Amino acid sequence: MSDASVTGEKHGLRTVDRRGLLVGGLALLSGIQAGSGAETAGLKTFAAAKGVRFGGAVQARDLAASAAYAGLVAQECAVITAENDMKWPALQPEPDRRTPEAADRIVAFARAHGLAVRGHTLVWGQDGRMPKWFEAMARSGGPAGARALEAQMVAHIRDLAGRYREAIVSWDVVNETLEARDGRGDGLRRSVLLDVFGPSWIDVAFRTARDAAPDATLVYNDYGTEQAKPWKVQKRTMVLRFLEALKSRGVPVQAFGVQAHLAGDEAFDARSFATFLREIASLGLAIEVTELDVDDHTWPADIGERDRRGAELIERFLDVCLAERATTTVVTWGLGDALSYQNRPGWRKVRSDGSTAPARPLPFDAEWRRKPMWHAMARAFQNAPAR
Ligand code: G3I
Repeated sequence: MSDASVTGEKHGLRTVDRRGLLVGGLALLSGIQAGSGAETAGLKTFAAAKGVRFGGAVQARDLAASAAYAGLVAQECAVITAENDMKWPALQPEPDRRTPEAADRIVAFARAHGLAVRGHTLVWGQDGRMPKWFEAMARSGGPAGARALEAQMVAHIRDLAGRYREAIVSWDVVNETLEARDGRGDGLRRSVLLDVFGPSWIDVAFRTARDAAPDATLVYNDYGTEQAKPWKVQKRTMVLRFLEALKSRGVPVQAFGVQAHLAGDEAFDARSFATFLREIASLGLAIEVTELDVDDHTWPADIGERDRRGAELIERFLDVCLAERATTTVVTWGLGDALSYQNRPGWRKVRSDGSTAPARPLPFDAEWRRKPMWHAMARAFQNAPAR
């Protein structure tokens, strides 16, 4: 990208004038196409060779802001997830106001480039993650209130899953609803939704999604199962018990979404994680890696060192995921470091070494160059068994 074309900074991306967009886009494409075939294919090509779908999470505003970035997404991804644009608060900020424009733009982008879409997420039943008006309605209480609440949740799922029925290949139907610290025997996270409905809201969500999106894979998505801290080991058991219970009640869950926000300062025990994945698969469930990235804030700021460690951790992790043939999908939470939520206000962590260096969680750097992590991922796909 020529410096003369740069006119400003937006969302961590350089924005460019019309001429600059063209120049930048061509430069990017020629960069991708330089070299020999196998070295320059996007990650989706390496994944697809083994029957796996690779992709990244995106936001509509970022796709619109940079043709170079949009081109990279189309080049690398077979599937995209809406990082925020399909969340309930974004789609229905008020009971009578629906705002699907950004989500529509993501689906239109996917259609234009022949990409699949993962839906994230129908119900994130955690206080503060549902629309404010819905949580207020839940708090207002009473049996009539509970019925109204159920009607709102069901209408939301029907509208959203129905609207994108053709585009969405898998839906995170329920997100992050297990929390050991809440002290319930069934492991469920306490929320206004749980208080009013009881645990049956989860069954209702999956059954409604099944009707509205008959062809999509229905996923339970959660974090904290990947590494070796005691609460994470405990969470694996919670997830397994939860999924077993759903299956035994005939709830139509079809896959577990392993979020995989990997922590740089924690051990990764390949053997016990592989056992966990095998147990998920033995329940007859598929596995989707849904939000892969690395949190490097505890590592030294030196870029070479962080990139080396990030690549190594991701490769070890993916080797285990991909050795399990039930794993169908790998999605990173963004594609490049500049757009990662980890570098946004409100999410940035204070680095252990006191420096203010931005996080480097993803396979592309701020200039959309492939990092060692990209090569580690390509290798992991190449070394994986076919499915
Ligand atoms: O877009 C609005 C903007 O208009 C407004 O002015 C601003 C003021 O707060 O907020 C902006 O919305 C923010 C949104 O991200 C878009 O950037 C929200 O405040 C912010 O809370 C939201 O954070 C997202 C978070 O989920 C909560 O929804 C992160 O970007 C997103 O990366 C993160 O993703 C989650 C997954 O959904 C579930 N798993 C964990 C993962 C990481 O936390």
